[in-house]
Amino acid sequence: MSIQFQGGVFKLETRSTSYHIKITDQAYLMHLYYGAKIGDADVSCLFPRAERSFSPNPAGYPGRDFSLDTLPQEYSGSGAGDFRLSSLAAGHGAVDLHYVRHRIVVGKPALAGLPSCCAAPGGVETLELELEDPVSGLCVRLLYGVYEADDFFTRSAVIVNRGAAPLTLHRAMSFCLDLPAEPWQLLGLPGAWARERQPERQPLRHGVQGFGSKRGASSHQHNPFFALCAPHTTEHSGPAYGFGLVYSGSYACLVEQDQFDTVRCVMGIQPEGFSWSLGPGEAFYTPEAVLAFSRQGLNGMSQIFHRAVRTHLCRGPWAHRRRPILVNNWEATYFDFDEQKLLALARRAAELGVELLVVDDGWFVGRSSDTSSLGDWSEDPAKLPRGLAGLAEALAETGLALGLWIEPEMVSPASELYRRHPDWCLHQPGRPATTGRDQLVLDLSRKDVRDHVWQQIDSLLQKAPISYLKWDMNRHLTEVGSALLPPERQGEAAHRYMLGVYELMERLFKHYPQVLVENCSGGGGRFDLGMLHYSPQIWASDDTDALERAKIQYGTSYCYPLSCMGCHVSAVPNHQTGRVTSLKARGDTALWGQLGYEMDLALLTEEETAQVRRQCEFYKRFAPVLHAGAFYRLPLPGAPGQLAWGVLSADQRQIFVFHMAPAAQANAPVRLLKLPFAAPGLRYRETSSGCCFQGTTLRYAGIALPPHPGDCVTTLLHFQAQ
Ligand code: GLA
Repeated sequence: MSIQFQGGVFKLETRSTSYHIKITDQAYLMHLYYGAKIGDADVSCLFPRAERSFSPNPAGYPGRDFSLDTLPQEYSGSGAGDFRLSSLAAGHGAVDLHYVRHRIVVGKPALAGLPSCCAAPGGVETLELELEDPVSGLCVRLLYGVYEADDFFTRSAVIVNRGAAPLTLHRAMSFCLDLPAEPWQLLGLPGAWARERQPERQPLRHGVQGFGSKRGASSHQHNPFFALCAPHTTEHSGPAYGFGLVYSGSYACLVEQDQFDTVRCVMGIQPEGFSWSLGPGEAFYTPEAVLAFSRQGLNGMSQIFHRAVRTHLCRGPWAHRRRPILVNNWEATYFDFDEQKLLALARRAAELGVELLVVDDGWFVGRSSDTSSLGDWSEDPAKLPRGLAGLAEALAETGLALGLWIEPEMVSPASELYRRHPDWCLHQPGRPATTGRDQLVLDLSRKDVRDHVWQQIDSLLQKAPISYLKWDMNRHLTEVGSALLPPERQGEAAHRYMLGVYELMERLFKHYPQVLVENCSGGGGRFDLGMLHYSPQIWASDDTDALERAKIQYGTSYCYPLSCMGCHVSAVPNHQTGRVTSLKARGDTALWGQLGYEMDLALLTEEETAQVRRQCEFYKRFAPVLHAGAFYRLPLPGAPGQLAWGVLSADQRQIFVFHMAPAAQANAPVRLLKLPFAAPGLRYRETSSGCCFQGTTLRYAGIALPPHPGDCVTTLLHFQAQ
């Protein structure tokens, strides 16, 4: 039993963590503890009651030593004496939530219309706690999924209107977590287009701090993930909490350090611009969040997320299958291609070991630049005279499968679809529509629009044997309004849009589970746990420069496993940075994710050709081991800018190591890289040099990284236990 209820206290346990909740005498849900496993201990005594001036007392409470303003809570209300971050705001009055009942369920109920962690495999129990605001009839069902074996919790809230009158929600966060007064540090993953997920860690200060997105997408700018850790937490040791939202739309992550230094975190749908009208009896589902805690530092926390994603979030036949090595024509040709060019690329790619050709943007009628034709998803006869079916047939002769780029959420004003249905895009009456990349966003909150888009996708997949789809999204949402919603419900449009995207993606998954879907939004602009429920890989970034890419993959690894990062080798000078790096460096970097090439392979020299062949062989042989292993970031103190990471295979018998030295240094010191995860009892052989090392040597002494001349020099090592 991973959930117990004794003496008014709920005790939730995973393999190495405990989470305790108490029902107070006043029927409030008090948060007692979340952290390393503490067994049965009653920790109520950690919260001595005290009178605090200007912290009011609930109506009917006989003393002054109890206040919602100081009580650690499971889900904060609003306007009833707790002046910290609220989790829920509705109507115009206060929200004061009291415990009513609970239920412990074996398994895990799905969340209507939203992505969430699946129950199987492995036992999962769910605690449902029901709270109610007795005045308005607003009811909150807090859901706690307890993944005992995989060591994490999920949380979400279902808001139900049990009153007689309709209510409007203004804020409905997924979870609230109150932590004790300690000098926590906040780690987030801010970024920008082509510069996604650059880790930033800073001490908390008093007041509210946080980040989020108002863009209608989780965005390049901030990722819906954050960690809280102690000042002494390193990658390998110390406490680390991680929080990831399973959602791809606008969101907020807010952390408040209050007057007594305690910390409240709330995370969920972005409240700005959000409202939701809830009729009597209706329910609103908030997105799920994944909560992880580790005493083994940030690597320990990341490994829990990696397992959660691989085992419980990614679904379908591709979740655990080795993915095909692909060649994508985007950076090789941009819009200037035809069947001949594609087939030439494919023939060359096939010789090297590549398995799939992705026809990127520009294959559909009228699309010779990024200014037109989105929405008109039929083949351009000038480029593909035999259509996609003919291309697939010719490709099959080369041994390659066909993949296709599509951007189904968008419409170009210069398109047949827009001419026929100008009202099908998100818009607000009387306001001119803001364009981004010369395109508008289809109103996918509407079923008729979704049915049309589905019919387009379905007919493409029917007419040709397409085994891979790159689902792109190249602008953010503005003037978010829907023609089918009444004025008072326009605040629902952004979330309804997201639910619409999920519904379409679910149709794709249900009807074509064998099609591998790679998510993309101008690179990694929707790299989130929500999208991973529908596509087991995401194009990590439009930036393929080896050095910058290594940093992006490093940052991405805080929450997301290697198996979900799409990583390509591209041409030099790099199209984003202009930097020239070796093919080895580009390959060594890309080999850690799902490998692809995005360049004119005809231009490779003989030596480079041999190198690409070796890269493909390495990937085919090792990707399954690499992606199922435990990933470790390996900081190199004293060597700023250098990056290293490693993987220990599930059976501990193989170790893979990556190191990148970004800039040449004259007369540079020799660095020692320790591999603290090497199995002490084993003896490992490094396969390219043949040198042998005891596990203990790798752990405590390390391996030497001798300085190499040149910028952006990478080392890729593979150790095999003897
Ligand atoms: C986005 C993607 C690129 C490419 C282009 C095509 O920017 O991230 O990989 O597909 O769109 O327009």
